[in-house]
Amino acid sequence: MTRNIPQQEQKVLAADTAVNALCNEGLIHSGMKIGLGTGSTAMPAVYALSALLERGAVTDIKAVATSFQTSIECERLGIPVYSMNAAVIGGELDLAIDGADEIDPECRLIKGGGAALLREKIVEYSARLLVIVADETKAVAHIGTGFAVPVEVIGEARVPVMRALEKLGASCVLREGVRKCGPVITDNGNMILDCRWSAPIDPAAMERAINDIPGVVENGLFTRVRPTVFIAHADGTVERRA
Ligand code: A5P
Repeated sequence: MTRNIPQQEQKVLAADTAVNALCNEGLIHSGMKIGLGTGSTAMPAVYALSALLERGAVTDIKAVATSFQTSIECERLGIPVYSMNAAVIGGELDLAIDGADEIDPECRLIKGGGAALLREKIVEYSARLLVIVADETKAVAHIGTGFAVPVEVIGEARVPVMRALEKLGASCVLREGVRKCGPVITDNGNMILDCRWSAPIDPAAMERAINDIPGVVENGLFTRVRPTVFIAHADGTVERRA
């Protein structure tokens, strides 16, 4: 019988498969420095890592969290969390694992649907290996025309940045809070402009161009690292792209 696994179960399947495969291959190992992502697919990866710690398959993990969501979960699970600046981390990580909003065939990403893009980019661009876990809806032919690219801006620059993004061909919307009046304020005290293009973009050129605008703190295009990607499908298979 054909299986039809729901999206949230696909997320858990991708995360479990990735963490266990990486452990078997020695890429998740005792004593390592690991970056932990944010969102509904990254959390099952944190739980899978916690399960490895609980059964003693790995010990002495040093984690860096990409958001309050992740650091709070790590506190609850007893996973030690450090700053990227801590002496034991030294600004570099062995591996980072996270979800994504869109993944193109070259494994370029949109991230930041959960507004954690700034710390995700700091952590994931500082890791020797980035692993992305996702359900099958995240794999697309082109990034930038479907899911919005988030741009984190300082509040004072909101309108000038919006005008500059429009000159780059984007339509922008200020992200509004849910059960919070007014704009979303990120973990870093900034606002988010969600940007879409009507035609495919050059993701690498756009990542650079957006960050050249004064007042932009970071954007959610991730093109400078080529991650290993685990995509779970509704039929229960997990595809690995490297
Ligand atoms: C958080 O800001 C994001 O980058 C997430 O990794 C991304 O939005 C994917 O989230 P889900 O796994 O919840 O879909």
